[in-house]
Amino acid sequence: MKFYIIPVICVLSLFVREYQSDSSSLYEPIVQEKNLEQSIADGKAVYSEFCMRCHLPQGEGVEGIYPPLAKSNWLSEKRTKSIKSVKYGLKGEIEVNGVTYNNNMTSMGLTDREVADVMNYILNSFGNEDIDSKQVTLKEVAGLSED
Ligand code: HEC
Repeated sequence: MKFYIIPVICVLSLFVREYQSDSSSLYEPIVQEKNLEQSIADGKAVYSEFCMRCHLPQGEGVEGIYPPLAKSNWLSEKRTKSIKSVKYGLKGEIEVNGVTYNNNMTSMGLTDREVADVMNYILNSFGNEDIDSKQVTLKEVAGLSED
């Protein structure tokens, strides 16, 4: 019976090592990504609450005041800038679909996850489904800082 103790201790010590190496990663942020469908669905709710009053239900915007998100060349050509604008706000002159806007969108204080979700929603709605865009991830949003 005694001899069984040795392998048992060996196996146990393996577990202890495993546990220790795991705990060293405790300090890294835990990034749990959603699948695209879930992110789009959650982004729709964010859009209704935070964006719709200016960009309107179909993302059509108001010419000269609130730029459109529907088939917006700015959104499709400037992925990173678009994410930053939603995360930090956007001010100054921009041209969207040939129309000049010189207005101010203040930061809405969204979480990185809400930014990712609403980006996935607008990139996959209003006729923007044709844009060849990969999913905006929480990791991508978290990695961006204000210029
Ligand atoms: C108070 C009105 C307002 C709200 C609310 C608002 N925006 Fe904007 N948004 C603007 C304005 C104004 C601009 C253009 C700013 C400029 O002229 O530099 C803009 C620009 C943009 C742009 C880049 C230009 C384009 O049309 O492609 C994106 C993308 C965008 N907004 C997305 C969003 C999203 C997503 C939300 C909700 C989370 C949101 N906005 C909420 C007013 C608003």
